[in-house]
Amino acid sequence: MKLLVIGGGGREHALAWKLAQSPRIVKVFVAPGNAGTALEHGLENLPITAIPDLVEFAKKEDITLTVVGPEAPLAEGVADAFHAADLKIFAPTKQAAQLEISKDFSKAFMQRHNIPTAAHATFSDASEAHHYLDQKEAPIVIKADGLAAGKGVIVAMTPTEAHTAVDAMLVKKNMGEAGMKIVIEDFLQGEEVSFIVMVDGYQVLPLATSQDYKRLRDGDQGPNTGGMGAYSPTPFISPERHGRIMREIIHPVINGMQQEGASYTGFLYAGLMITPDDEIKVLEFNCRLGDPETQTIMMRLKSDLFTLIEQALNGSLDNAEIEWDRRVALGVIMAAHGYPEVPRKNDVIQGLANLTAQQIAPEDFHVFHSSTTLGGDNGNEVLTAGGRVLCVTTLGDSVKMAQRNAYQIAEHIHFDGCQMRHDIGYRGMTKTGNRP
Ligand code: AMP
Ligand code: GLY
Repeated sequence: MKLLVIGGGGREHALAWKLAQSPRIVKVFVAPGNAGTALEHGLENLPITAIPDLVEFAKKEDITLTVVGPEAPLAEGVADAFHAADLKIFAPTKQAAQLEISKDFSKAFMQRHNIPTAAHATFSDASEAHHYLDQKEAPIVIKADGLAAGKGVIVAMTPTEAHTAVDAMLVKKNMGEAGMKIVIEDFLQGEEVSFIVMVDGYQVLPLATSQDYKRLRDGDQGPNTGGMGAYSPTPFISPERHGRIMREIIHPVINGMQQEGASYTGFLYAGLMITPDDEIKVLEFNCRLGDPETQTIMMRLKSDLFTLIEQALNGSLDNAEIEWDRRVALGVIMAAHGYPEVPRKNDVIQGLANLTAQQIAPEDFHVFHSSTTLGGDNGNEVLTAGGRVLCVTTLGDSVKMAQRNAYQIAEHIHFDGCQMRHDIGYRGMTKTGNRP
């Protein structure tokens, strides 16, 4: 059987790599993919991104099922287009993906279904937004309603920053269409964690927990990024908190979507804040897997991912069994010069071939490619092609061991201007996970 993965980042490399391990799969196409998926055994890049072309390809090649990585195709209605052509796809419809596509929808939905989240108000008029801000205190969070490729959230530490953010979105229209409406949300303190599940419309299969490092620099300093590293599992989600998250957040979302006539199928990612008084509140929903969380989750997944997705598409996730490597997986992002503002492209990446490190078994690490391309003089060089370039992902008996392994591997890889954090995993190095 042949599969199709839509997307071209590290998350999609990890997904396709895992799917290709299924004994029933002969090939996984990745559209458009990157240098990593081009070089990976069992994968083949497909240089198309337009939805009608993807539908055509899936029909012609007899693709058994398609999995979607990023959010942009969801917003363009990729699932609806595949359904209309009677093709199997594991992704929410455009209507169900409103949970991620519109922050205003998502916040109002949570209110309707009593799902814990920060208090908020929505505005499209700047003077009303400024008036609201005058009654609130900083820090406060300003969010563009629409998709903004990770740039739509401003955590304003002062009232001036908050007013400036409102003007940037509603008056100067810096975010374009995505910022014509904004959500102003109370600031939440605490420990941020990622909770990702598979959903078949009614039933839910939780994946391993994880924690992402969003800031560019060590010690959680510098600007927000798409994520500079992650590890799984996180000690902050104890069995008790896991139960609460399922009861108070995940099940109400799935049931709520059913009630509202927008049945949810696909991966669902809840970005959660565990507050100092141990409340668990939703920061955001993503209608997809996280990047780089996926790289660490796939590294630990022992079950056949293709079988799990088949079960989800058959509506039988209640029968699914999922097995995890008991070790910790940790991924470190190597990012391009200038990321996140203006990432430089076309730096030559060295050291990827024949990577080995003492005391690390080859099956205990994998370098997933995020933004890379093949080029150079002979077309065989691996070049940087965007902001996040590689995710060095390793297993270890503890967060500390996995961290040591990841940096040992990363040491062998070089490109000019590489930016990398040196402390990924530090939050997870706690015995109890009760720090917040
Ligand atoms: P979002 O895309 O909504 O997850 O926002 C991006 C990042 O901004 C999150 O990962 C958080 O680190 C931060 N953030 C979002 N909402 C809040 C909030 N209400 N309080 C504190 N930080 C937030
Ligand atoms: N790592 C955060 C995200 O994928 O949205």
